[in-house]
Amino acid sequence: MFSPAWYQSIAMLDSRLFRSATKLKAMPSMRNIAKRAIRQAAASLRGMRYRGEPEKLVEKGYDEMAADYGNWTLHHQRPDRAKYTELLMQNLPEGANLLELGCGPGDPTTKTLAQRYNVTANDISEACLAIAHENAPNATFIKSDMTSLEFPANSFDAVVAFYSFHHVPRERYEPLLQNIANWLKPGGVFMAAMYPYDVDNLVTGDWHGSTMYWSSFDEARTIELVTSAGLKIIEQSKESAIEDGKETTFLWLLAARV
Ligand SMILES: C[S@@+](CC[C@H](N)C(=O)[O-])C[C@H]1O[C@@H](n2cnc3c(N)ncnc32)[C@H](O)[C@@H]1O
Repeated sequence: MFSPAWYQSIAMLDSRLFRSATKLKAMPSMRNIAKRAIRQAAASLRGMRYRGEPEKLVEKGYDEMAADYGNWTLHHQRPDRAKYTELLMQNLPEGANLLELGCGPGDPTTKTLAQRYNVTANDISEACLAIAHENAPNATFIKSDMTSLEFPANSFDAVVAFYSFHHVPRERYEPLLQNIANWLKPGGVFMAAMYPYDVDNLVTGDWHGSTMYWSSFDEARTIELVTSAGLKIIEQSKESAIEDGKETTFLWLLAARV
């Protein structure tokens, strides 16, 4: 066990390192060498500070870069986002009750969905939710870890999670998917963009300038978890897009509660 003073020192260093890394943005010549080293040190330190609490790493990271992530999303529109939003709308009548998990800053997805549906949007990051509220003022927002949410059975016609599951620890996938199936009305639909690779408790130092936590299963295990929760796959495809010069692939799923 570490003393409170130890935790206080780690917290102070963590904040200082984040500020140093941010200042380096203004010094292009230093960028390649120093930025990476400082960010890696910041990631290790933050990993220590929030050891055993990955949801806090995620919350702090998105609180720091909510606006940056929001702008980036708008300038890096992946074709799969629009394609699957359209598919969802074809399968879900107007006025339906929809729950969005990990809504982020809410543009374009929450904003688009809230024009058509009765949207309850959730995120763990207060900063993301503040922006999302401006983008989709008629949605209802809940700040919470999605794995701690509670709703009565049969509450929603649809539950969606666009690019958010890969920040949830692997051991929480199964109970979360079971909750989702339980919250859905019979015939209700689940749509998600999942990262289809084996990633276990990874902490990196430069997701939009912040430390971030990643966790996911390969495609076969992801499908197994979804179907064993009582969700029948209607549509599934791996979709790739270039993000910041790198090909990134997500597994898109549309499933229905049996
Ligand atoms: C990559 S962003 C995706 C945001 C948005 N869905 C989109 O399509 O752009 C991931 C979002 O999931 C949220 N998130 C990650 N883990 C979460 C958790 N356990 N509970 C609630 N939100 C979470 C993050 O705060 C972040 O806003």
